[in-house]
Amino acid sequence: MAKEKNYVSEAVMRRMPKYYRHLTDMEKAGIERISSKELSKRMGLTASQIRQDFNCFGGFGQQGYGYNVSELRQEIQKILGLHNEYHIIIIGAGNLGQALANYTGFEKDGFFVKALFDINPRLIGMSIRGIPIYDIDEMESFISENEVHIAAICTPKEKAQEAAEILIQSGVKGIWNFAAVDIAVPNQAIVENVHLSDSLYTLSFRMSDD
Ligand code: NAI
Repeated sequence: MAKEKNYVSEAVMRRMPKYYRHLTDMEKAGIERISSKELSKRMGLTASQIRQDFNCFGGFGQQGYGYNVSELRQEIQKILGLHNEYHIIIIGAGNLGQALANYTGFEKDGFFVKALFDINPRLIGMSIRGIPIYDIDEMESFISENEVHIAAICTPKEKAQEAAEILIQSGVKGIWNFAAVDIAVPNQAIVENVHLSDSLYTLSFRMSDD
């Protein structure tokens, strides 16, 4: 089924979560089957674009039948690796770190926050939704004693690179970076940046008249 990820373009990869989200909503709404035309309308893409996207993974759907919503959702779930369970730690337990830890919505997709780390003595020892905030000095030993797949960096941007380096040296593979800085990492690490301000600048650009 799934081809090597390296052959899949960035653009296709970025569309897969959106397919998954729509298919999950359709499944919840009791929709069993969807034609490529209907799916394309929902996704805001052409039917041929959708076919091309799915062909990257060997193709799904049948001529004249369309797509079986549950089956397609399951296939995309596997492609996205969402059939796995992921343990997350959060570096920086300030406004954003605490908001992420408080959000329960990621758990239904298998993402569980296990601990937060900070340098602020007033935060260390507290917990968010039962999830402990530890001293940053305990991070490396926590990682060696617990399975940690993803680290969310929610520190001030000046501290993000250093945090990423320690995390990667400690064996964490996935970095979910919220700090407004592009961190440099070696090849074995995978960084996904969430630059909310970039998105806001894009919105502002699209709204501006000049
Ligand atoms: P904050 O100041 O509330 O929290 C940052 C936390 O990081 C503090 O608790 C601080 O003690 C801790 N910290 C500082 N150095 C550290 C280190 N070396 N190791 C571990 N913890 C350390 O800031 P906030 O608002 O939570 O933002 C965090 C990051 O996320 C910033 O880089 C910010 O630019 C970015 N961001 C925040 C957004 C938001 O809505 N709050 C939105 C977009 C980006």
